[in-house]
This record gives sequence, structure tokens and C-alpha cells, in this order.
Amino acid sequence: MTEPVLDVHLTPEDAVVALRAEAKAGLTARPKWVSPKWFYDAVGSDLFEEITKLPEYYPTRAEREILLARAGEIAATTGAHALVELGSGSSEKTRLLLDALREHGTLREFVPLDVSASALTEAARQILADYPGLAVHGVVGDFTEHLGLLPGSSPRLVAFLGGTIGNLIPEERDKFLASVRDVLEPGEWLLLGTDLVKDPEVLVRAYDDARGVTAEFNRNVLRVLNRELGADLDPLAFRHVALWNADQEWIEMRLRAVRAVRAHVAALELDVEFAEGEELRTEVSAKFRREGVERELTAAGFELHRWWTDSEGRFALSLARVVG
Ligand code: SAH
Ligand code: AVI
Repeated sequence: MTEPVLDVHLTPEDAVVALRAEAKAGLTARPKWVSPKWFYDAVGSDLFEEITKLPEYYPTRAEREILLARAGEIAATTGAHALVELGSGSSEKTRLLLDALREHGTLREFVPLDVSASALTEAARQILADYPGLAVHGVVGDFTEHLGLLPGSSPRLVAFLGGTIGNLIPEERDKFLASVRDVLEPGEWLLLGTDLVKDPEVLVRAYDDARGVTAEFNRNVLRVLNRELGADLDPLAFRHVALWNADQEWIEMRLRAVRAVRAHVAALELDVEFAEGEELRTEVSAKFRREGVERELTAAGFELHRWWTDSEGRFALSLARVVG
């Protein structure tokens, strides 16, 4: 079997160095935090795929509905030669774009980029097998750092699906959108998925499902810290918490210590203490309104060309062009 080309801009060693620096800052801060990119080891990536199939987790289905309806129009509008996908994961929904671009006759190359080497390798292999003639060029990297090195021939369409942009805090989002803008030429395209503000009960249920899959996903970050940094955090000592922050319009996931916890992080020579009830913030998942998305795109140098939502108005896809 032909293997996909893989560029590794983030080796496992680089990832541990980055995690070490971040854990040192986040576990000694008040309140304590770690960033969500560390969820996605092989187990975490599989748990995320399971989340996408939960009845409570609507974003994947809603975004798929929009892609099903609009992929043809996206292909005809962009005429993209290369589809670059950031935070590509399993690239399942992306097949709708690949199909449409292939049908349109312009597609030559697919460039998925993900921090999770396991998810990326698996997806790149599957797509290479299912799309004969397509050049598949995977990149193991961090989309907040490694965009300058992206391959792909012009015109390119960069897809950032799933609402993953909401996992960046506002300053990170501005920086990220500006860096996407910087690697693109005028006239090239960004397709951006954003989850929308809605009834907080619906939102909280999507992040605190009845089967507890999201809780396991959340606790997985402790297992990553234990394995990669020689820590001894007891996952069973933490309860999954998902809450709606109405001021910021984002869901926050936290891990709350159910008792006093004392842990040692060997790689940092650090003792970490949690009082009973103390929380570790593990993720924000911002929810958007059209005005906010348009404002952020415009500030970064994009022009919003199309805005589509699913039939229930839960999720949006924006097609934006780099202003010349
Ligand atoms: N796009 C897919 C997957 C979303 S899950 C979908 O819509 O279903 C988020 C994905 O982004 C995961 O695969 C995770 O590994 C990846 N990811 C998270 N933070 C990242 C970062 N900083 N750089 C690159 N990939 C990242
Ligand atoms: C990847 N990202 C868009 C997901 C989200 O909805 O914020 C990650 C996730 N966290 C909990 N459930 C899913």
C-alpha cells in the first residue's frame, strides 16, 4: 500500500517540551489550567470520535448537514487545487469537500494538519486509499505555530471545521486568524465552522453527556500528564464539570477535586496541591454569533463571502476570502 507523505513539525519530544512548559505555568497558576490540545493522544482522539456520535453532541451532525448542502457550491466558488485542513482529526466530514472538489475537477492535493499523530496517520492512510490519484500530504503540527510551513498549490482552501476555533481564547483566536491570513494569497479561501450561541441547557448537555464519554475525555488529560510528565494525578479524584459562562459566551470544562489532592509531577520536580472543590480548567468552547465571526474575520484581513447555518440554526459555516 502507498503511504501518505507525512511532515513532522512537532515530534513527540517537542510535544513533551511544550507540555512541560505549559504544565509548569498552568499547574502553578490560580486558577489552575491546561490547554485542550493535550486531550488528543490516541485514547483522547478516539474518545472525541465517540463524542461526535452522542445524541447530545449536535455540532458534528449540524456541520455535516451544512457541508452536504453546500459542498458543491464551495467547490465551484473556490476552485481549490489544494484542500488544507487544520485540526483535521478523522477528516470524516471533510470527505464531502473532497468529493465535491474532485467532481468539480480542480482537486490535486489534500493537506491535513493535526497535533495528534495517531489520528492524522490513520485519516491520511484512509483518504489516500479511498481517493486514488490524490496527493495526500499530512503534517503533524500545532496550528497555533506551524502554519508558515504548510505545503499546497494555489488556489488553496483552508478548512477549520468542528468549531475548534472556539477552543482558542479570544487573543489566541485573533493571532491564529492573522497567521492563517498571512500564509494565504489574496483570493484564497478559509472555510470556518463555528458553533452558535443557544439555549444553555442544550449546550451543557452537549458537554456533559448521560453516558459520561465527555467526562472520560476530560479526565484523559490527567492520564496524559501522568504518562508524559511522570505525574501521579488520580483521575478518580476529579469530577467532570461543564458550565456555561454567559459573560464570555463559552462552555468551560473543568476537573473538580472531590477531595484534597496532593500530586507530584516528576518531570517538573513539582508538588501540586488541590484543595477539595478546587478546579483545573481544561477547555473553553466558545459559541458565536454572526456579527462576532464577521468582525473577527474582517479584523484578520478576510472578507465574509457566505454564511450558512444548519436547518435548526445551531451551527454555522463561513466561507471567507483573503482581501486583496
Ligand atoms: N476537525 C475534526 C476534529 C475536531 S477535534 C472535526 O470537525 O470533527 C479537534 C482536533 O484538533 C483534534 O484532532 C485535535 O488533535 C486537533 N488539535 C487540537 N489542538 C490543536 C493544535 N493546537 N494544533 C493542531 N491540532 C490541534
Ligand atoms: C474539538 N472541539 C470543537 C470540541 C468542542 O466541542 O469544543 C471538543 C470537545 N470538548 C468536549 N466535547 C467536545
